[in-house]
Amino acid sequence: MSSSHCNAIVLFFIAFLLGGIISVSHAQLSSTFYDETCPNVTSIIRGVIDNALLSDSRIGASLLRLHFHDCFVNGCDGSILLNNSDTIDSEKEAARNNNSVRGFGVVDDIKTALESACPGIVSCADILTIAAEESVSAAGGPSWTVLLGRRDGTTANRTGADISLPSAIDTLDTLKSVFLAVGLNTTDLVSLSGAHTFGRAQCLTFSGRLYNFNNTGNPDDTLNTTYLETLQGICPQNGTGTDLTNLDLTTLDTFDNNYFSNLQLENGLLQTDQELFSTTGADTIDIVNSFSSDQSAFFASFVESMLKMGNISVLTGSEGEVRLNCGIVNTDSSGSESYLHSSIETRDDAEYKYAI
Ligand code: HEM
Repeated sequence: MSSSHCNAIVLFFIAFLLGGIISVSHAQLSSTFYDETCPNVTSIIRGVIDNALLSDSRIGASLLRLHFHDCFVNGCDGSILLNNSDTIDSEKEAARNNNSVRGFGVVDDIKTALESACPGIVSCADILTIAAEESVSAAGGPSWTVLLGRRDGTTANRTGADISLPSAIDTLDTLKSVFLAVGLNTTDLVSLSGAHTFGRAQCLTFSGRLYNFNNTGNPDDTLNTTYLETLQGICPQNGTGTDLTNLDLTTLDTFDNNYFSNLQLENGLLQTDQELFSTTGADTIDIVNSFSSDQSAFFASFVESMLKMGNISVLTGSEGEVRLNCGIVNTDSSGSESYLHSSIETRDDAEYKYAI
């Protein structure tokens, strides 16, 4: 065999290997995804959140919850942001979301700012991911490097939202299986529940614990009696159910590990919070104790679990689209996707050609 043939074969294998590597990275998220195309994406998002926090101290919590409710239903594809249309039955109006999830106006403000700085580049699913991280860090929690490059879905799944999102009266076993269904384990369940270190809940989500728990005629006996009295004052038996209280009674707007020390004192607000500590013999008790005694351990575990959650069934490469308006799929807003010429698409094409 001539040396030129040998070189050609070696080159072919190098190209093949490179193609393999490139096609693998093509299907994955990356921390540098917007470095060339929208380098200020994080600071733009943070600016909008900081401004919103001035008039709404709860908004960071609401944005974090949006990312969670997005990722658990059809993966992190921005589907929770879609409005009703001829083709969309919105997830917003699923029972677990309706009159409960919030923050859509701030997401729209973020999208407007990004469309002005780098049109057609940043997906709504990635906006939720970055907004979640920035909201946690703005509240005193950890900051971390998020992975980016998600594309937006073109469908919503209202029925899926009712099935895949946990309910505040689920048993611990049900919570575990809801999390396991999206690849998250028991440690993820406990660390991510630590998100209830900030934000609010309506009376209707925990009032079942206050007067006649499970038809016993008595309140939940895993609820601290002093806290019980406070909550009964906030949520009278004949109330509307829509009054709000803080998920963390000690440090309401701060992201810290007090959520876990609350549980040790039977001061968890939701039934599902308190179950992590008060279910006899549960493997979650040790995890609660360790996060309560070591905030850094909680933060490290929370970050790891957030990265896992942010990876659930993501669309990448040429899948889905980059929505121009987070509430509407592009074909609905324009009748055509052709005017969206993002550099993401250009790069994907180049990678695709190289890979084959
Ligand atoms: C373990 C199962 C979970 C259940 C049953 C649950 C349930 C709830 C409920 C019922 C509320 C109050 C909603 C309302 O009153 O309208 C709430 C609020 C909240 N949840 Fe969860 N949640 C869970 C896990 C999570 C996870 C994994 C995260 C994020 C990583 C999260 C973040 C939040 C935040 C930040 C709030 C406050 C939102 C606001 O103030 O707008 N939750 N959750």
